[in-house]
Amino acid sequence: MTLWVNGTVVPDDAAVIRADDHGLVVGDGVFETMAVEDGVPFALTRHLHRLQRSAAGLGLEVDERFVRAGIEAVLADRPDYVRLRVTVTGGPSPYGSDRGSAGPTVMVATGPMAPWPPTTDVAVVPWTRNERAATAGLKTTSYADNVVALRYAHDRGAAEALFANSRGEVCEGTGSNVFYEYDGVLVTPPLTSGCLAGVTRELLIEWLAAEGTPVREVALPIETLHETQEAFITSTTRDVMPIAHIDGRALTPTPGPLTRQACVVFERRAAETPDP
Ligand SMILES: Cc1ncc(COP(=O)(O)O)c(C=O)c1O
Repeated sequence: MTLWVNGTVVPDDAAVIRADDHGLVVGDGVFETMAVEDGVPFALTRHLHRLQRSAAGLGLEVDERFVRAGIEAVLADRPDYVRLRVTVTGGPSPYGSDRGSAGPTVMVATGPMAPWPPTTDVAVVPWTRNERAATAGLKTTSYADNVVALRYAHDRGAAEALFANSRGEVCEGTGSNVFYEYDGVLVTPPLTSGCLAGVTRELLIEWLAAEGTPVREVALPIETLHETQEAFITSTTRDVMPIAHIDGRALTPTPGPLTRQACVVFERRAAETPDP
């Protein structure tokens, strides 16, 4: 991994984050993950906009030029790496939930990534996303809920966990958005479900609409996943990934026709420009 912290490229095992960093101590931080091809991050503008939105939601200030300098530094060092991560935390702070005044910690890292398998199995978890939480829809570093949910999925032989929200509607995965067939058409939870506004989700919705096959953003009960004919998850590192099993029920064929079309459209459009 190549790591840049607060303006300097540092060894990735150097002790450069203070033990009282609010990101570490209470999870007060935001982040972005981007895919990189030939040293160029995909959809950088959209990711930096979301970073700003997440930071604003926590009341954190992010200096975009500083973040861009960090991105340039690590990618100049290792343009062959395929994963880029930007993290901004509340910085050194007193223990407790009040943030200190020292200013944020800004980290940028790039590294390799193991390829994903072609399909995934998912498990619906018994815990909910809170669509009315102060942090709903923000990409914060408080991912402990996701850690627990993913372990639950792994214990059941699945590779991703899916959450309902507190109203019992389909919401999202631990690191992905979900799309599925309902009544013969492709649907995905609306942002009011409390899901993250995934960049991959957003692009796919735009691109499928432009191709004349709009996705319906609709709130539906989590049980609808148990009757769907086909489904997939989306994320920056996975693009469109077909789901083969939901809670052990096989979705055949995998991928189904709606999923195949989404894969094809996403791949074609994404190849047109690195910053759509
Ligand atoms: C909770 C959550 N939902 C959805 C996504 C997918 O978002 P994107 O397509 O921007 O990677 C992620 C990405 O990691 C995530 O963490």
